[in-house]
Amino acid sequence: MRTDNDSWDITESVGVTAVGVAAARAVESARPDALFHDPYAAKLVEAVGDGWSRIMRGEVQIDPERNRLYGPMGGMMTARTLYFDEYFRAAVADGIRQVVILASGLDARAYRLEWPAGTVVFELDQPKVLEFKAGALADDTPAAERRTIAIDLRQDWPAALRENGFDPSRPTAWLAEGLLRYLPHDAQDRLCENIVELSAPGSRVALNIGMGERQMNSESREARAKALAEAGIRLDVENLFYSSEGRTDPRGWFAERGWTVSSGDAANILTEHGREVSETAHTDFDRMVLMTAIRQGD
Ligand SMILES: C[S@@+](CC[C@H](N)C(=O)[O-])C[C@H]1O[C@@H](n2cnc3c(N)ncnc32)[C@H](O)[C@@H]1O
Repeated sequence: MRTDNDSWDITESVGVTAVGVAAARAVESARPDALFHDPYAAKLVEAVGDGWSRIMRGEVQIDPERNRLYGPMGGMMTARTLYFDEYFRAAVADGIRQVVILASGLDARAYRLEWPAGTVVFELDQPKVLEFKAGALADDTPAAERRTIAIDLRQDWPAALRENGFDPSRPTAWLAEGLLRYLPHDAQDRLCENIVELSAPGSRVALNIGMGERQMNSESREARAKALAEAGIRLDVENLFYSSEGRTDPRGWFAERGWTVSSGDAANILTEHGREVSETAHTDFDRMVLMTAIRQGD
């Protein structure tokens, strides 16, 4: 159960979800037909411990009814990684040198993408999550100037961002990947308002959000919980989400504020890369929003 000021380590509550998505990136990276390579994902997952490493290696099947590690969710993780990687490549090609990754978790983009000289990547997440990542990647060198800000995103993170050298007069590329459903509705709205307020012309934002409830039958959910428990992991992601009912749809919200909004299509992204998409995955993808928006120059 969530509470207003809850906090977590990488092995508990919302922290665990960061490991889950990193494990999915590690699994994709290890495929012979991998669509991207995140060499840091496996390292980070290994650093979390045995249970997650066994899941990553396929020794524990989370959802045997569906294919591979997370079934359709694995496909979604692959699609969204490709989509957001491409978003950042386009942003830097357009001259953006200030990047903010909200809820960075175990995202290793600051290390693995090619950033032009002078690019600053801010990463914001809960203190213990950032602390874990710092330890696990202590021997690695980021490919950009990386500044971490340990803060709860329900608090006054814009002040902390400014204190760490964020310059609101420069265009920024924002990312909120795998974050919004873990925020109460009002905190999501505030976060988006803050992004708009801190965005110079030419800034852009990328995010994803599941807009409906996942149609996972209770049997699958129980099977998943049991497999995770066998690996020593306590995670029931649906219990960590705040409801999607009544939540602001960020596509309309940014459009109303004059931003130019584009939607991504996970199934198309995968098929364009030659990856087959199952019927179950199509159904799951339908409720998943992938979005970018640009604040045009004044
Ligand atoms: C599913 S993970 C996604 C991590 C990363 N963006 C990725 O896609 O790999 C969710 C992340 O959101 C962070 N998070 C959720 N709510 C937060 C909050 N209120 N303050 C700070 N971080 C938060 C968690 O700590 C976790 O790292």
